[in-house]
Amino acid sequence: MKVGIIIGSIREGRAGEQVGQWVFDTAKGYEGAEFEIIDLKSFNVPLLTSPTVPGMANRQYDSAEVTNWSRAIDACDAFIFVTPEYNHGVPGAFKNAVDSIGPEWQNKKVAFVAYGAANGVRAIEQWRGVVANFNMWDIRTTVELNLFTDFGDEGFAPQERRQGELTALLEQLIG
Ligand SMILES: Cc1cc2nc3c(=O)[nH]c(=O)nc-3n(C[C@H](O)[C@H](O)[C@H](O)COP(=O)(O)O)c2cc1C
Repeated sequence: MKVGIIIGSIREGRAGEQVGQWVFDTAKGYEGAEFEIIDLKSFNVPLLTSPTVPGMANRQYDSAEVTNWSRAIDACDAFIFVTPEYNHGVPGAFKNAVDSIGPEWQNKKVAFVAYGAANGVRAIEQWRGVVANFNMWDIRTTVELNLFTDFGDEGFAPQERRQGELTALLEQLIG
């Protein structure tokens, strides 16, 4: 089983990079799966302007960037979405990247690691509605990181209990 850890923020100086690395470092020792960081920023997925609905495109996309993105997602059996919360919802660039392809997500498992002032819970709950359209299997257990108590002056510094929460998420995702 291959699990893609998707870093869903593409901002300069994003917090998501450290969070994604922490997820990877914890997960990589976990037996029964291999893990890969899929850094959305590195794919430069353009804004979706194609006249063809991605779900109907038979994986034939208009740009090399979307094709690369499609292949990376196709290669995974499950995902961990590392997602910030923007304006009480999912981040636009990440949603655009999800929208830009289609069958690559279908019927796969997904778990959520979120962060924000209110621990990113609103982003997670919005994601659940989105991934339902791909018949994805969303994991109940989440890691919800707080901007004030899981981050310090030096950046990401998760509370001790977060490790256990991430392990519980991995157990549900991988079994
Ligand atoms: C456009 C924008 C909207 C935001 N809205 C929220 C919000 O609604 N709730 C929240 O908890 N944090 C919000 N934040 C703060 C982010 O949680 C914080 O900046 C976090 O570091 C963003 O993740 P990133 O650095 O990986 O992009 C917002 C940040 C941005 C850039």
